[in-house]
Amino acid sequence: MKLISPSLLSADFGNLQRDIEMLNASECDWLHVDVMDGVFVPNISFGQPVVKHIKKHARKPLDVHLMIVDPGRYVNDFKEAGADILTVHYEACTHLDRTLHAIKDAGMRCGTVLNPGTSVALLEDTIQLCDVVLLMSVNPGFGGQKFIENTYNKVKQLRALCDRKNPDCLIEVDGGVNTSNAPMLFAAGADVLVAGNAVFKSENPVQTIHDLKQ
Ligand code: DX5
Ligand code: ZN
Repeated sequence: MKLISPSLLSADFGNLQRDIEMLNASECDWLHVDVMDGVFVPNISFGQPVVKHIKKHARKPLDVHLMIVDPGRYVNDFKEAGADILTVHYEACTHLDRTLHAIKDAGMRCGTVLNPGTSVALLEDTIQLCDVVLLMSVNPGFGGQKFIENTYNKVKQLRALCDRKNPDCLIEVDGGVNTSNAPMLFAAGADVLVAGNAVFKSENPVQTIHDLKQ
């Protein structure tokens, strides 16, 4: 599968409705929504009230990436705010199995996120619960960082794990994705690519989304 999930973190927050309407009219598949708490990651972005407003205008599923400590506390809040896919960090969950079940029980698709320094092997006991696994290809917190090349190896390892234990699980990659590395990521086995700066800082975001899918 080749899906594109543009990250609204790089959008113009003063013109969010305009940027969401641009994405509605583009070939993108999901809208990636980065929630940061200033504790799990050094940066603070926005929370449920903003997600609720994004949902009002979005015509595509909201792919909400929680970069917050103990995300299990907020599963129902993000369901109410309009999340369709909710991903939580392996490193932020003491009870990952419970949190993934809670997301599913609330009626959303669930996913686990791994930081660049966290091994794919640690998913062995939860991969069967995941609709998606998100591999961070930068250390999370900011848009516009440089892609970490080891991500290709991790995508291949994860593909092998999914083939063995959960073939329906989608592999998503987030951070430093652009039109140069996208073909290699899809070839390595990725299904969903997140792109912030590559889309929003380009001359023609709609065309860039088209190019990323090729
Ligand atoms: C980083 C966020 C990403 C970020 C990607 O912590 O999780 O989703 O917005 O931005 P780019 O594509 O610019 O690296
Ligand atoms: Zn993200």
